[in-house]
Amino acid sequence: MIITNPSLVGQQAYNESYLKTLKQGTEKLSDFLSNGLFGQQPKLAVVLGSGLGGLANDLEAPQSLEFTELGLPVAGAQGHAGRFVVGKLEGEPVLLQQGRIHMYEGHPGPLVALPIRMMMNAGVRDILITNAAGALDPKVNIGDLVLNTSFHFQLPPAYHPSTGLSGEMIGSQFYPPAFGYSEEMMEKIKERAKEIPLHEGGYVFRFGPNYEDPSDIRDLSLKRSAFLDIGEIKNAPLVVGMSTVPEILAVAQFNSQYQGAIKCCSISNVTNLGAGLSSIQPSHQEVLENSALGGKRLREIICGFLG
Ligand code: HPA
Repeated sequence: MIITNPSLVGQQAYNESYLKTLKQGTEKLSDFLSNGLFGQQPKLAVVLGSGLGGLANDLEAPQSLEFTELGLPVAGAQGHAGRFVVGKLEGEPVLLQQGRIHMYEGHPGPLVALPIRMMMNAGVRDILITNAAGALDPKVNIGDLVLNTSFHFQLPPAYHPSTGLSGEMIGSQFYPPAFGYSEEMMEKIKERAKEIPLHEGGYVFRFGPNYEDPSDIRDLSLKRSAFLDIGEIKNAPLVVGMSTVPEILAVAQFNSQYQGAIKCCSISNVTNLGAGLSSIQPSHQEVLENSALGGKRLREIICGFLG
């Protein structure tokens, strides 16, 4: 059953159908994981952002499960397949989420968070979220990776992944977003990244589907400078994108109930400079074309994490 956009009126009925879809999808995903990985849990699950889905081609003995079989909508953005794939990478069991659904496709926050909630409820414990993003600092190059060390967002209730939702499969009603990203996992990633350049900085969420106006990027760059002036590198915004925050919030909510059971963090693949910082206007074509170098580096980081 595909959930349609909830209005805040009729929220109760929405919540019931949401929880039903989550429960049924979780059961199917659990079966898929145990069949595809012969009873093992994945050592790592990776959400693959725009232009990064190709990693699934590197899996040994891959098996896939379409989002639609889990009651989820088809992923509507080019470069987002919308399926789960299991298999082995570096000899280790992994789960890849190839593509995601976004709010800019017209989906509410809770729906966007459903795939990651299904993963967590199916027993997945280590999750790396990836995304394509625009950089707010011209010193960052296309193809560089940014470990997202803080999140800048404001979500109105109708778009928030947790509106009206809490409980056993979701988590506590109130929770700190910082429970959604783990220092321990970030340290492990930094250790294993070795010579791959990995910047650290904040991820700014924008709804899209438009890219930013140059004035918005200018605003964010000034905010970045203000943070850097007081020495706060991790809180300073460094990249902007249209995903990831709903997933981080879903993890944070789950972790608030289950004492940090999920280790999660996110990495941006810089595909372009923010609007106005270069002579080219951002486009989806550019994002997809420029995702290859960062994708290769991400693959190395993922293999380093597994090894
Ligand atoms: N802005 C927002 N989202 C993005 C960008 C950007 O510049 N690049 C890739 N995703």
